Amino acid sequence: MRDIEGKVAFITGAASGMGLGMTKAFTKAGMKVMMADIDEKRLQAAAADLKARGADVDTLRCDITIEDSVFAAAAATVKRFGTVHVLCNNAGVSVGGLSEELSQKDWDWVVAVNQTAIVYAMRAFLPLMKANGESGHVMSTASMAGLVNAGAGWGAYNASKHAAVAMMEVLYSELKDTPIGVSVLCPGAVNTNILEAATHRPDHFGKSDDRPIALNPIGETLQQGLDPDVVGELVLDAIRENQFYIFTDPRMERQIERLFDRIKLGFAWARKNEHLIAANQPGGRSCRRVRIAGGRQGLRTPFRSPAGPPGTQTASGPLRWKAQRAPRIPPGTALSRVGTPPPAHTVRGSSTSAVWDRSPPRA
Ligand SMILES: NC(=O)c1ccc[n+]([C@@H]2O[C@H](COP(=O)([O-])OP(=O)(O)OC[C@H]3O[C@@H](n4cnc5c(N)ncnc54)[C@H](O)[C@@H]3O)[C@@H](O)[C@H]2O)c1
Repeated sequence: MRDIEGKVAFITGAASGMGLGMTKAFTKAGMKVMMADIDEKRLQAAAADLKARGADVDTLRCDITIEDSVFAAAAATVKRFGTVHVLCNNAGVSVGGLSEELSQKDWDWVVAVNQTAIVYAMRAFLPLMKANGESGHVMSTASMAGLVNAGAGWGAYNASKHAAVAMMEVLYSELKDTPIGVSVLCPGAVNTNILEAATHRPDHFGKSDDRPIALNPIGETLQQGLDPDVVGELVLDAIRENQFYIFTDPRMERQIERLFDRIKLGFAWARKNEHLIAANQPGGRSCRRVRIAGGRQGLRTPFRSPAGPPGTQTASGPLRWKAQRAPRIPPGTALSRVGTPPPAHTVRGSSTSAVWDRSPPRA
């Protein structure tokens, strides 16, 4: 979405932290912003400050855990600004506690704000955004905790943020033939007011029992975190450049690699499993890694992976997945025999050469 000026954005959690940072960046670039938040006092103060600097903003007190409140916000935004081009599902909360110790209301609250509210917003805003026929963008704020395990006590937050990432991945596929782009923001530590999350807990989710947002103390980490105004500029860049994954801390790439290593160990284990081998499951021990003409590599598998969002392709091109039946291996065949490499050969007369995937990845 290159053409930003004059476009209308709706941002949740706009009174504070990254939502406020996005509002500042968007209005500086000439956009109009409907700022939505549950914290009326902070919202008015933030809007007054921005208006004094000439920003075209308006405010809505909105509790995104209430479906009607989100639909009313969509209607009010259209009434005030005529339409909506950019939807930022940004508000989020956390409560720390071991998975079985958190109350059901703790779980419900975190899931309602971080996950279900995105569903409400997609249903309330997307039809409006599609109807105007103009280019637009949907951005949801997840977290690095939407991709990796944040550790003990982060269960509700981790689960809801994984859901946010999954929803944006699917939405990307659903909107890829429209002028509406999709992004998911996965920040590391950012210096915001998120430690005060419990003060924004609506009454219908009961008391917080003074639980902190995490079991481990993270106050110092957050204080040393990134300036939320920088995140606002980063999100604007991503919308302009149609960048799907928005990361704020490139050092955290290693955590993703470690997760992939663990997942690959699971596949290596499955590849050696006698039951799968006996069931002649394609992609088992006999799975071949194939070099496709043009230097690309792909594991042959019965599943077709949809083309990923922009930014999910390798330097040498997108990973290519192809269906193949593995050679039949008689039940009870010793694993050592299954692992015998076949000779290199050419597939369908192309320059494709097969490489035997002999050993499972190491731990
Ligand atoms: N701060 C970090 O280090 C960090 C890291 C990763 C992800 N995140 C995510 O970033 C997003 C923004 O959080 P932040 O760090 O700027 O915190 P923040 O507390 O400064 O801002 C969050 C805003 O959401 C609002 N809000 C809470 N519940 C709401 C509700 N029911 N309805 C409407 N508004 C509500 C709050 O009033 C607040 O203004 C969240 O989704 C959070 O999970 C934060």
